[in-house]
Amino acid sequence: MYNAFFGLTENPFNLSPDPNFLYRSAQHEEALANLIYGVQSRKGFIVLTGEVGTGKTTMLECLRDFLGSQEIPFAFLFNSRLTPEQFFEMLAYDFDLACSRQSKTEVLFALNAVLLARAETGPTTVLIVDEAHNLEWDVLEEIRLLGNLENRRGKLLQIILAGQPELDRKLDLPELRQLKQRIALRTQLNPFPPEETALYIASRLGHAGRAHQDIFPPDVLAELHLRTEGIPRLINSVCDNLLLMAFAMESKVVTMPMLDEVTNDLRLVWPEGTAPALS
Ligand SMILES: Nc1ncnc2c1ncn2[C@@H]1O[C@H](COP(=O)(O)OP(=O)(O)OP(=O)(O)O)[C@@H](O)[C@H]1O
Ligand SMILES: [Mg+2]
Repeated sequence: MYNAFFGLTENPFNLSPDPNFLYRSAQHEEALANLIYGVQSRKGFIVLTGEVGTGKTTMLECLRDFLGSQEIPFAFLFNSRLTPEQFFEMLAYDFDLACSRQSKTEVLFALNAVLLARAETGPTTVLIVDEAHNLEWDVLEEIRLLGNLENRRGKLLQIILAGQPELDRKLDLPELRQLKQRIALRTQLNPFPPEETALYIASRLGHAGRAHQDIFPPDVLAELHLRTEGIPRLINSVCDNLLLMAFAMESKVVTMPMLDEVTNDLRLVWPEGTAPALS
């Protein structure tokens, strides 16, 4: 809506986890490098955790692009509220296994055969589970057992569990200690520090065709960081609304009163209880 007004070719603050808009912060870069390293060196279990909206699914999408480019087969489960039966059905579907998808024994048999054949000749195989904090104990147990498949070169199936910090807490439960012990690599995403919030905004605007960021003045950026607590999804929402408001007011820059109104409309609450100064 406001794209032409700001000289943008597309919406810079979309909420989808689009790798084309990736801002390569040091921690996102490291997380992605860890995921790729874990897969390539056949580490077995890899866990990615981070608060809501910090970029986990975006990292998985980047990994998916990488796996595609390397022709490494993978299954991507993004609905983690599954029964064990549904889990095996989805595995069979995603890996295109030639077996009865309703029979756990058949799925396991077919999967094992495919993994073994691939391990001899081809690349490894990857199972990605997003929102893994929602996995029930019995599905996690099945996943742990899949992680046991190995040959001399390493694990046959690389398993990436991504989720909110509850996942870490779940893995700390005594009944999941066997799984916890098998996690070879852990990586974590945190909210941005203030300077990265500014760089992130400039980077997204750059991807959308505006090379020079002069829409958000420094004082607004500093306050925007405080109110979004450096969380990418919240930054996107606030920035999108700010651009819309500036456009409606025919202003090429955003201002503090606009920020107050937007954060109020979005009902944002942030630490220190600094309520927006609405007149
Ligand atoms: N490094 C980044 N570069 C560009 N955009 C990012 C980055 N990190 C996060 N985002 C953006 O932030 C928003 C939230 O990201 P994402 O959906 O990946 O978060 P999440 O951690 O999976 O959240 P949830 O816990 O709710 O599943 C998306 O719009 C995404 O594009
Ligand atoms: Mg996500």
